[in-house]
Amino acid sequence: MRKNIVAGNWKMNKTFEQADELVSTLVEKLEETELKQNTLMILCPPYPYLEMSTDYSNDSYFMVGAQDVSEHEEGAFTGEVSAAMLESMDVEYCIVGHSERRQYFHESDQQVAAKVNQLLAHEIRPIVCCGEVLEEREANKQFDVVKRQICDGLFHLSAEQFASVVIAYEPVWAIGTGKTATPEQAQEMHAFIRSLIAEKYGKEVADETSILYGGSCKPGNAKELFANPDVDGGLIGGASLKADDFMAIATAF
Ligand code: 13P
Repeated sequence: MRKNIVAGNWKMNKTFEQADELVSTLVEKLEETELKQNTLMILCPPYPYLEMSTDYSNDSYFMVGAQDVSEHEEGAFTGEVSAAMLESMDVEYCIVGHSERRQYFHESDQQVAAKVNQLLAHEIRPIVCCGEVLEEREANKQFDVVKRQICDGLFHLSAEQFASVVIAYEPVWAIGTGKTATPEQAQEMHAFIRSLIAEKYGKEVADETSILYGGSCKPGNAKELFANPDVDGGLIGGASLKADDFMAIATAF
């Protein structure tokens, strides 16, 4: 079902003690302030903190997601973490195809597709990232780029499988730069993505898909971004590392 989602991508930040403090503070805040109905909070800490986070979540305050997964089922892949492992740790979501994975680890759309398959085979919902770099936007190629990422990464799925997918549009030029897409730019791209889904799977599936915005989303701009009809929440980097900021974003719907 289409939900409003605020997901925190911690990236490679925080020691165990700092992570523990952030999650416990969030739980205290969520006890004081209930999120609106149909609003879901997801925390995506680094792998070593997944168990601590699922312990705190107690299946009620928030869901826990990983930041990446192996495209392989199991075996001799030193350093990798499989979807089966995540499933066995009660992880329910996983980010795939983040621009940092694409840029620094050369992750291709085909690898994104393989990772999505692994996650779905283990009943974990993929949060699939897409988005153009600055030069692509300046050349007005943002729609071609996002279309390719979505088609090649996701459109091999059946409609039933696709129903488990969350999409995050993250213009790369807005990530960690303080430069946010305008609400109009976000809405334009989100509506485009929804139209692609409608073309492939029909309007009903498209209307049920949550499409999140990511890139310098913070308490000061979340409300105007989330007010758009096709923006169903955010994938938050820097601002998810501070409990007050993340709560302010989670209550901006
Ligand atoms: P920032 O919110 O720090 O710009 O990061 C966005 C992001 O990449 C979330 O996945």
